[in-house]
Formats: sequence, structure tokens, C-alpha cells
Amino acid sequence: MSLDIRAFIFDLDGVITDTAEYHFLAWKRLADEEGIPFTRQDNEALRGVSRRESLNRMLKGRPIDEATAQNYMQRKNDYYVASLSEITPAAVLPGAINLLDEAHAAGILIGMGSASKNARPVLDKLGIAYKFDAIGDGYSVVNTKPAPDLFIWTAGRLGVSPTQAVVFEDAEAGVAAALTGGFWAVGIGTADVGKAHLVLPDLANAHAKEIVAALGS
Ligand code: BG6
Ligand code: MG
Repeated sequence: MSLDIRAFIFDLDGVITDTAEYHFLAWKRLADEEGIPFTRQDNEALRGVSRRESLNRMLKGRPIDEATAQNYMQRKNDYYVASLSEITPAAVLPGAINLLDEAHAAGILIGMGSASKNARPVLDKLGIAYKFDAIGDGYSVVNTKPAPDLFIWTAGRLGVSPTQAVVFEDAEAGVAAALTGGFWAVGIGTADVGKAHLVLPDLANAHAKEIVAALGS
């Protein structure tokens, strides 16, 4: 079966660049300061979900009032934003730019579907914002992953339907969002992305035409 793929929609953190690690380190610093046990393993559950939901999962049911929640989210974001000063174009993960360029050359539109409110500054620091035809971020929709809304919003901006778009995601919540929305899903990495139509360890050696062919086989 030959698929009519017209767009690739990429998650940012953990797919295009390794900011997933910076998100973890920022939550870890906050958790340590507050005496909340929080491990790298715990952090897997925070992949892809919003800042608020990340806080909920980090707290694991510990009750806090709203003012404290706002304080925690602000501090975490401050730590995260401070770490972005380390980001340069060299932080684009191997293979990502090649895949974007192959897709563009093949006439495939490029979208960003990141839950992060920091997605645009990160893309700017990476120097690749101009490669995206539409950027959906943490400000675009109310219902965040695993709801499909962000990918549907981005597909709408690109003028494609979900069956014409492939979502690249490193998070279980993101793969779930893609599948619920009726998109093709490529899982990236070692997190729980096995429900995706295709799973790749990373974008190194990922090729646009091969991915479309593999999804259609
Ligand atoms: C996602 C990350 O892309 O964005 C999550 O995978 C993060 O770890 C979420 O919590 C929200 O990011 P931000 O920058 O708006 O706090
Ligand atoms: Mg991610």
C-alpha cells in the first residue's frame, strides 16, 4: 500500500534534541530541595506531559495547595530555562536535520507538536525554527497529550488530515495522542513507545522515504 503522506509532525524534547534530560534535571533539583524522592525512573512517567501534569506525577499524590503548586512550577521552569543557555545548534540530535531536509525535499510539510511552552525558544537556539511550516507548542491547545488536540491543531495549520501525517514521539503519552488522533506514529527511543506503528532507536539513519514505505508495508 502506498500511503499519501503529506506531513511529518515532530515532538521536540527527546526527539529533535535532548532537552528531556534538562526537564528531568530541573524537576530533580526541585524535588531534592523539597525532600521529595524522585528518580530517573520516576521521570519516565513525566515524558511528554504538560508542566502541571508533570508536577502531579512528581508529587505522587502528596497534597499541596495551589500557591505551592505555582511556586514549584515556576521554580522548575526557572531551572529549566537557565539550562537552555547551554543549547546551541550542536544540540540537534544526530539525523534530525537530515530527516527534516529529506522530508522537505520530498514535498512533505514539517510540523512541531511539543507540549512545551519553551518550544519556540529552544527551536530558535537550535537554529532550526525556520525549517518548520507550523509550530504547535504548550500554548496552542488546552488539552495536552495524551489528548490528540495538539497534533490535530498542528495538522490543521499544515492543511493535512491525520491519516496524511506521521507523528514522531519519544513519549508514551505522545504516541497515545497520535494514535487517538488517527495519525501514523513513529516511536523514538527506549521509553514505552511500543504501540507506535514503527519504532526507531533515534533519528540517526532515519530516512523519509524509508519511513513512509515501512508504514505502508
Ligand atoms: C514536553 C516535555 O515536551 O513539554 C515534558 O516532554 C514537559 O517533560 C512539557 O513537562 C512541558 O514543558 P514546559 O517547558 O512547558 O514546562
Ligand atoms: Mg518528548
